[in-house]
This record gives sequence, structure tokens and C-alpha cells, in this order.
Amino acid sequence: MRIGITGATGLIGGALASELAGRGHDVVALTRRAGAPGGLPAGVGSAQWNPDGDGADAGLVGVLEELDALVHLAGEPVGKRWTAARKRAIRTSRIGGTKTLVKALGAARTPPTRLLAASAVGYYGPCGDEELDEEAPPGTDFLGAVCTEWEDAAAGARQAGIETVAMRIGVVLSPRGGALATMLPPFRMGVGGRVGSGRQWMPWIHLADVAAAMVHLLDVPAGSLDPVYNLTAPNPVTNADFTSALGKALRRPTIFPVPGFGMRLAFGEMAGALLLSGQRVVPRRLLASGFEFRHPDIGPALMDLVGN
Ligand SMILES: NC(=O)c1ccc[n+]([C@@H]2O[C@H](COP(=O)([O-])OP(=O)(O)OC[C@H]3O[C@@H](n4cnc5c(N)ncnc54)[C@H](OP(=O)(O)O)[C@@H]3O)[C@@H](O)[C@H]2O)c1
Repeated sequence: MRIGITGATGLIGGALASELAGRGHDVVALTRRAGAPGGLPAGVGSAQWNPDGDGADAGLVGVLEELDALVHLAGEPVGKRWTAARKRAIRTSRIGGTKTLVKALGAARTPPTRLLAASAVGYYGPCGDEELDEEAPPGTDFLGAVCTEWEDAAAGARQAGIETVAMRIGVVLSPRGGALATMLPPFRMGVGGRVGSGRQWMPWIHLADVAAAMVHLLDVPAGSLDPVYNLTAPNPVTNADFTSALGKALRRPTIFPVPGFGMRLAFGEMAGALLLSGQRVVPRRLLASGFEFRHPDIGPALMDLVGN
């Protein structure tokens, strides 16, 4: 298959591009960057697109017409302090970028048959201890609203006859980027610890499993996909359990809790949404569709990623 990936220069997209190219697929990275971006896996081609464009761009339409499937992952990073400008970029890069793609897909004479579009577990908002499958309602906070609009924008591709799936991705664990890479320096120095009460849930997933789950969703026979899948490990953990598993994997103590007010001071609103609250998400539909996780439990997953 010929598969396009927006955001292939990022953490998840890079792992997915590598996995697909390794399976013999023809992979095209759709990137904002001019020329061939560095760091793409061997054998992966590239094409430029403008997420802020109007979607009528003949070059983009032409690229999409050549694809069998499209995986849309691009978006402004979320895990930094949310200034007003960053909140605008988080929202517009996702909703505007997705609308651009959907318009171009609508203009394509032979569009790809399947679109896998990123969303996030932030869709559910902060939910305490309640177990959440794909039927749970959206949150009313900033991320809940952004994810809802993001998924709605992607769903527009169905009008062009494209089988479209929203992937509510959990906290992707990799030492190369994202939340775990940020946590590693203090934990490696032995000054890491739980955040706030430690009771908040962490809907984590190993980078290899998130890429494998996307490959699985590309492989499922046409017409049999649900509109939404949670991409999280089947066994979410609390922040306290995650902290203790990370300490064990690194063979370091984890006795320095980080108070919630300190996180709020350092990271503002983002801390409340991403670090001090969480969701107990379960991947009911992935499991029902026969997907087998290589890393279902946090202890072995962290040993695999960063174990000493
Ligand atoms: N990592 C996680 O834990 C996690 C969890 C839940 C959901 N997600 C979602 O999954 C997607 C991929 O995540 P990731 O961690 O791989 O992201 P990432 O490493 O930050 O990469 C995202 C890619 O998006 C493009 N991008 C960055 N800023 C952009 C902007 N302002 N407008 C348009 N495109 C922009 C970039 O590609 P180019 O420069 O090549 O255009 C970048 O390589 C994101 O949408 C993210 O919200 C990730």
C-alpha cells in the first residue's frame, strides 16, 4: 500500500513510518518543511503541505490521489506551558489543519480509502476513577473541546466516501520524546517522585504498541472499522504506580513527591489538565478487534524502554 503520514517527523509518526516501511509499504511523509526533512526513516519519501492552506492546492490534492490510506498526526505540541498563543496554536493546528486535509480529500478524484486521524484521551476531560471506553462522553474543558472539534473535522472525510477513524491516543512512552523523556532526567538523578496526590490515572501506551495499533487499524478489512478507538494500554495505572515502576526500572529511589501547587506554578493550566488529573481509559474496541499488545503492563514496558 502507499500510505501518507502527516506528522511523520514527530515521535509517533516516525515510529509508524519506520514500521510501515519495514513491512514493505510505500510511505510518504507530508511535512510543512521544504525539501526532504532530516531524520525520516530510510526509504520514506516526503511531500510538502501547508496546514494553513485552503485545501484547494493542486499539489496536495495530487499527492492524496496517489495514496491508499492517510494517517493524520500533525499538530502543535501540547506538553508545554499553555500561553494564550500556544492554546490558539494547539487548536488551530489541529482543527484548521484537519479541515485543510479534508477539503483536499474531497477534491481528489481517487482519494485514499481510509483515514486514521489522531485525537487524544484528553477528549474525556479529567474523570477521576471512572473507567472510560469509547462510549464515554467528552469533557467540557479546553482539551475536551479541542478533541471534539478535531474529531468532527476529520469525520468530514466520510462525505468523500473515506472510511474514517478517530484514534484517542494515550500518553505515549518513549525515551526519545514526549512525557517519559521529560521525566527521565530527575528520575535518573534519584530526585523523581509522584506528582500531586499520585492518585490521578495515567492512560499510557508503549511507542511500539501505538505504532502497531495503527498498523492493525490499516490492516482491518474495509467496512469493519468503528468510528473511534482508544489507543492506550489495557492496564492503565495511577501516577503513584507509574512512579514506582519507573524507579524500579531505573533502580533509583522515588521519594521526592512534586506538590501540585509547584506544578501549577511552573506549568500553569497545562499542569492541571495533563499532570495533576488523568483518565482511566481502556482500549475496549482494539481488544475486541483482536489487537494483541506487546506491552500490556507498565513494569515490563518501562523495563523495555529504560530498564537498567
Ligand atoms: N505523544 C503523545 O503522548 C500523544 C498523546 C495523545 C495524542 N497525541 C497526538 O498524536 C499526534 C502526534 O503526536 P507526537 O507526539 O508524535 O507529536 P510530535 O512529536 O510533536 O510531532 C507532531 C508533528 O506535527 C507537525 N507539527 C508540529 N507543530 C505543528 C503546527 N503548529 N501545525 C501543523 N503541524 C505541526 C510536525 O511535523 P512537520 O514539521 O513535519 O510538519 C511534527 O513533527 C499529535 O497530534 C498529538 O496531539 C500524542
